[in-house]
Amino acid sequence: MLTVALPKGRIAEQTLEIFAQIFGGEFKFEGRELILDMGEFRFLNVRNQDVPTYVEHGAADIGVVGLDVITEKELDIIQLLDMQLGKCKVAIGIKNEDELDWSRPNIKVATKMVNITKNYFAKKAVGVEVVKLYGSIELAPLVGLADAIVDIVETGSTMRENGLKVAEDIMDSSAHLIANKNSFYAKKEEILSLYEKIKEVVQRDAQY
Ligand code: PRP
Repeated sequence: MLTVALPKGRIAEQTLEIFAQIFGGEFKFEGRELILDMGEFRFLNVRNQDVPTYVEHGAADIGVVGLDVITEKELDIIQLLDMQLGKCKVAIGIKNEDELDWSRPNIKVATKMVNITKNYFAKKAVGVEVVKLYGSIELAPLVGLADAIVDIVETGSTMRENGLKVAEDIMDSSAHLIANKNSFYAKKEEILSLYEKIKEVVQRDAQY
């Protein structure tokens, strides 16, 4: 039996679709249920940011989560596979009329991703004051809470519709399959067999 933590929403649906392709049957959370038992698998429906917590604590053996979250949380987990789902970028955004002035002594940045932001500015040897927010990050520069944001850009429409532009890309992200370290050794055959099957589907889909 493998417990799989999935991030609520499209990535969970797409991952369950991969399981349906591999094993047949309907893999779907009904209504607001948080646990789905299907054969040898138990799926947990959790918030994106919480997936690594379930996996790190061993409440889930494996999980699917964005590389941005893995990088931000500096997790002690095993990264198995890029699922090629939910592709996006982490980028610096500023107002359309602004330029990012790297020569300033200190730049004020609003973000959910405090560590990614601090590391990026440290690499550039530029001082940064990070303002931690939990959502609607694009608002911050519009009302003078920050000079810039560091946030996820997928289609780009949130930035565009709020008069912001990408000043610089920080990293590419996509959903990755991760495993708890102890589970990986205790259930190695089960996990590797599933990994091989998922890899086959992901690689086949990547050809189209
Ligand atoms: C994410 C992200 C951006 C938006 C980017 O927010 O923080 O705001 O999606 O997507 P786009 O480039 O396709 O417009 P989310 O919808 O997760 O909401 P949040 O503000 O609560 O984080």
